[in-house]
Amino acid sequence: EKANLALIVDRYKESFTSLPQGKGWLGETLYLYQGYWYPSITFISIATVMALQDTFQAKPTDIYLVTQPKSGTTWIKALAFAIVNRTRYNNKCLVTHPLLTINPHDCVPFIENEILRSKPTYMDENSTRLFATHMPYNSLPQSILDSGCRLVYMCRNPKDVLVSMFHFVNKLKGDFSHDVLKLEDAFEKFSKGIGSCYPYWDHVKGYYKASLEHPTRILFLTYENMKMDTANNVKRLADFIGYPFTKEEEDNGVVQEIVSLCSFKSLSDVNKHGKIVSGVPSHAFFREGEVEDWKKHLTKEMTHILDEITKEKFHGLDISF
Ligand code: A3P
Repeated sequence: EKANLALIVDRYKESFTSLPQGKGWLGETLYLYQGYWYPSITFISIATVMALQDTFQAKPTDIYLVTQPKSGTTWIKALAFAIVNRTRYNNKCLVTHPLLTINPHDCVPFIENEILRSKPTYMDENSTRLFATHMPYNSLPQSILDSGCRLVYMCRNPKDVLVSMFHFVNKLKGDFSHDVLKLEDAFEKFSKGIGSCYPYWDHVKGYYKASLEHPTRILFLTYENMKMDTANNVKRLADFIGYPFTKEEEDNGVVQEIVSLCSFKSLSDVNKHGKIVSGVPSHAFFREGEVEDWKKHLTKEMTHILDEITKEKFHGLDISF
């Protein structure tokens, strides 16, 4: 994958080096492309975005789980994977459920990684392809829009996304550098819309508006709502992606089984050790898993500024956390 990334970076170098540049949360160079910032080297790189736009082929039966980093990607991957594969790994079969041993990121690939693979993840022509992506709506490969396939977008309170990202970056930094990211610096970048796939607000707004225009194609969810009523949102999700629960399944507690299997407690217990395929420690995707954890971290002034930006950017939109 690394070799393929180097090839893609090389192929698109001329196109992206002339773009406006900034500095990311890990000190990496960012490039501004179609209104969003992307790094040049990590998996959601400017070159992979360009390559996906040029070459990615979606199918009408595909399902895309779209998030911004730290908005609940790991959780929605687990839930959708458990829903789609529930008859393959039920109580009666002897195979251990993959989510009891494997990180959700290794169960559902990002298209940003898929494009770097020599062999496709889904070899069976007839299997439903469940993918994830962090790409903003206006930059999605045209074939995803044209194929008529379904997209599920999950967003989260910007203050919790900021705090979650701040901790995640420091966990990653801890692996290779002693220089710690300060919350003030993270806040500054977040509120200015600088960071991988940011501005945060434009990303959310893009999918929110698209979900109103195409309600049968795009389901708009929030992390907070999913936390508040996981079972009903799991049912909504299953209906939307074409895997509705039967009455019998509901009566047999299948929905609750999926909720428990994908709960923060269950997934964080499974993922205490090891690394996902891309090399990130498995435990890095699990911290608190709570709503409004930002209250423990952000100052009054930071809160006020972020609330003001959110009020202005989401003015007239029915988005609440
Ligand atoms: P916190 O840092 O606030 O705890 P992502 O998966 O997009 O990288 O987001 C990570 C955030 O989702 C982290 O938030 C993490 O703890 C939380 N998370 C991971 N798995 C979860 C689950 N099963 N249920 C609820 N939250 C979860």
